[in-house]
Amino acid sequence: MRIEMAKSYGFCFGVKRAIKIAENAGEASTIGELIHNAEEINRLRQNFGVKTLKDASEVSDEKKLIIRTHGIQKEDLTRLREQNKELIDATCPFVTKPQQIVEKMSDEGYDIVIFGDSNHPEVKGVKSYAKGRVFVVLEPSELDEIKLNSKVAVVSQTTKKIENFVKIVDYLMQKSREVRIFNTICNATLENQEAAAKLAKKADIMIIVGGKNSSNTKQLFLISQSFCKDSYLIENEDEIEQIWFKNKNLCGISAGASTPDWIIKKVVEKIEKISKF
Ligand code: F3S
Repeated sequence: MRIEMAKSYGFCFGVKRAIKIAENAGEASTIGELIHNAEEINRLRQNFGVKTLKDASEVSDEKKLIIRTHGIQKEDLTRLREQNKELIDATCPFVTKPQQIVEKMSDEGYDIVIFGDSNHPEVKGVKSYAKGRVFVVLEPSELDEIKLNSKVAVVSQTTKKIENFVKIVDYLMQKSREVRIFNTICNATLENQEAAAKLAKKADIMIIVGGKNSSNTKQLFLISQSFCKDSYLIENEDEIEQIWFKNKNLCGISAGASTPDWIIKKVVEKIEKISKF
């Protein structure tokens, strides 16, 4: 069996940057998980003394706090600044961007539509920058009952699929006279998705490595599965089962944007071993 890695996979720019920041921060605590990957979070704790707090409400006497890649809500940021905490900002610039857009556009009187999961920390953070009306939706139909302002600005959660964002945009164009569209989907996700799709089209089996609570990893898995029915989402090499690879010629591998290289390497090594039997 041959093994082929997707052309683009794994850590994105924002995650690499956040990890560097955390490694250099010394004894600090992150507000929420720095990235969606339990094993990398453990490594940071063991090797660099970086602790993880559940969310901003858990902050007590910590002096140094790291803001995770997804960002935090504006009111939390303000409160922590007032408490004179040392804040180290590891928010991904691709997340800071929609925060700024939402703040500016709502200042200018636009209704804000965010295409995303309302419970996702990134979306909660972006939403918190709106000063006026803001709607978080996944489907255009969720806006049916709402009488939107004649001026609407729309942004997307960074990890969403462009095709679905376009559906929201299309719907808004029919509903409002002025629609300002900001494509805030980040390239890292798109590149990983395109590369996974390309590989899945020719592979007999696809292994997607990443945290099961990571939105972009799940997205990658769904894309892969749509082209290659034998697709598996795993968090580490222990979940691999030898039987999956029986009679397979090409195994494709990809990994979510918050999956560290050392985990991917272990997965590849295990599959290499299996492929020799
Ligand atoms: Fe940032 Fe995109 Fe990564 S938003 S954290 S570069 S997946």
